[in-house]
Amino acid sequence: MANKNGVQIPKFVKWAGGKGQLIEQFEPLFPQKFNNYLEPFVGSGAVFFYIMQKIKPKEAVISDINEELMNTYEIIKNDVERLIVELKQHKEYHVAEGKKYYLTIRSTDSKELPKLEVAARFIYLNKTCFNGLYRVNSQGKFNVPMGSYKNPDIIQEQKLLLISKLLANVSIRTMSFEKVLDLAEKGDFVYLDPPYYPLKKGKSFTTYTKEVFLEQEQKKLADVFRKLDKKGCLLMLSNSDTDFIKELYSDFNIKIVKAKRSINCDGSKRGLINEVVVTNY
Ligand SMILES: C[S@@+](CC[C@H](N)C(=O)[O-])C[C@H]1O[C@@H](n2cnc3c(N)ncnc32)[C@H](O)[C@@H]1O
Repeated sequence: MANKNGVQIPKFVKWAGGKGQLIEQFEPLFPQKFNNYLEPFVGSGAVFFYIMQKIKPKEAVISDINEELMNTYEIIKNDVERLIVELKQHKEYHVAEGKKYYLTIRSTDSKELPKLEVAARFIYLNKTCFNGLYRVNSQGKFNVPMGSYKNPDIIQEQKLLLISKLLANVSIRTMSFEKVLDLAEKGDFVYLDPPYYPLKKGKSFTTYTKEVFLEQEQKKLADVFRKLDKKGCLLMLSNSDTDFIKELYSDFNIKIVKAKRSINCDGSKRGLINEVVVTNY
């Protein structure tokens, strides 16, 4: 578990655009006082886990459009012991059969499985697939090849138990980001971490669902940001350091942070890249 300024960040899945490495740079940018916390693009939840332990809001809502991801949060919250048993089984078979087992689980149709098994399958595939990528084909079927890990951390018992505790009073939704407008109220803090606008046109490698997130969605998000601002919410948003994004949020405060990211499509080359953080406070 990564320790950020005395706070454990239980990273339970690898997720493109994860914010674990940016927590130290974000810390001085978080508002010190707010009512409830909402995170509508929660992904692997690095910022959420930090806020829940350090600032401890009374109520929190997390959401993402990825159904399997949000089902996993739901199962960790309500059925963590049985989830750990399922993961132990996956580990046993994976050690015994390797790729044969991976391909069998990958080809299972998750729509046919009970929710507990869907969550265990989701974590198992994330921990054993190439680069922790989440990619689905046009039918929504997961299609990433197996990665080459000697001893993938499939069970993660301590992390899952901690997450289950942190989720105890959290509302878990599966919805598109604009619905946050119905839930957020004056004085609430909303952190928005959408799929990034690509640095170069047509150069986005990141897919989290079969839906795309292009210029039109970024504009719709900026519109939601302005409406939340008018409501009196405290807002923080991450995105790429591009003219398009800086223009969209030119009425607000823009700071630059530095992130270590893959700078080519196979992830083998990493470099420091500027990212923007927009706030309205
Ligand atoms: C940059 S990632 C968030 C990463 C997260 N902060 C973390 O630490 O792992 C963007 C997330 O937006 C989600 N997403 C994509 N389109 C969405 C939409 N229309 N509404 C809500 N979430 C969406 C993706 O599934 C993905 O998890």
